[in-house]
Amino acid sequence: MPTDELSPHIDGPALDFLAAAEIEIEGRMPWSSNATFLVNLAHEGRTHQAIYKPVRGERPLWDFEPGLHRRECAAYHLSNALGIQVVPPTVIREGPFGEGSVQWFVEADHSQHYFTIFENREDLHQQLRRIAAFDFVANNTDRKSGHCLIAGDHVWGIDHGLCFAADFKLRTVIWEFSGEPIDPNLIAALEALRSDPPASVKDLLSTAEVEALLVRTDHLITTGEFPGDETGQRYPWPLV
Ligand SMILES: Nc1ncnc2c1ncn2[C@@H]1O[C@H](COP(=O)(O)OP(=O)(O)O)[C@@H](O)[C@H]1O
Ligand SMILES: [Mg+2]
Repeated sequence: MPTDELSPHIDGPALDFLAAAEIEIEGRMPWSSNATFLVNLAHEGRTHQAIYKPVRGERPLWDFEPGLHRRECAAYHLSNALGIQVVPPTVIREGPFGEGSVQWFVEADHSQHYFTIFENREDLHQQLRRIAAFDFVANNTDRKSGHCLIAGDHVWGIDHGLCFAADFKLRTVIWEFSGEPIDPNLIAALEALRSDPPASVKDLLSTAEVEALLVRTDHLITTGEFPGDETGQRYPWPLV
């Protein structure tokens, strides 16, 4: 495969394309809680779609600072730093409605989501485990079943605007792996993150958020297992 191939699995060219392409609005995504747009990108004869979330379209939230687009991008860089390909390539850039996040659009089978993937695709459970670990480290408060997209044999996580709060507020539908050991490769990646968190993540978060991220990372390393939910209440709403 040539190295300049455009694919969400080859980060460099995909990121360059997202950053440089011309953006044309295709439409607003149905069901989106904020102003979330499907856009057409074109650059040097190549085209692809993306999800554009302008900061101006954000619905104000009482428990999150504005700038959800920064969290979308930080989530990508966290996934990239861990080498787990949970989050499709994402950049921050100017767009038709001002600055926002622009994320690679994955061609997903929308009849599938976390619950159906868990049920029917045991061969993909390792990828679901990675998402569970990612969500704990990122402190994701909104891992709905429908925020897991399957494209081919790859499971992607989307919608990470509500991650990285300094207070622990994980809300997810992924609890099936709780108590299981985390595999050694992932532990090694978590250790590397803890000892040297990349600037690409740190620069998008506050000092308190980075400190909390490292405490959560350390917790996974120390326990060595997928966390559980003693309260039984750490679920997003709606579930799908
Ligand atoms: N990277 C992506 N690739 C494909 N579809 C996506 C992607 N990101 C979002 N979507 C689609 O757009 C919908 C709305 O996106 P989401 O990130 O959930 O926005 P919101 O922040 O408004 O909830 C999702 O339910 C999904 O169908
Ligand atoms: Mg959403």
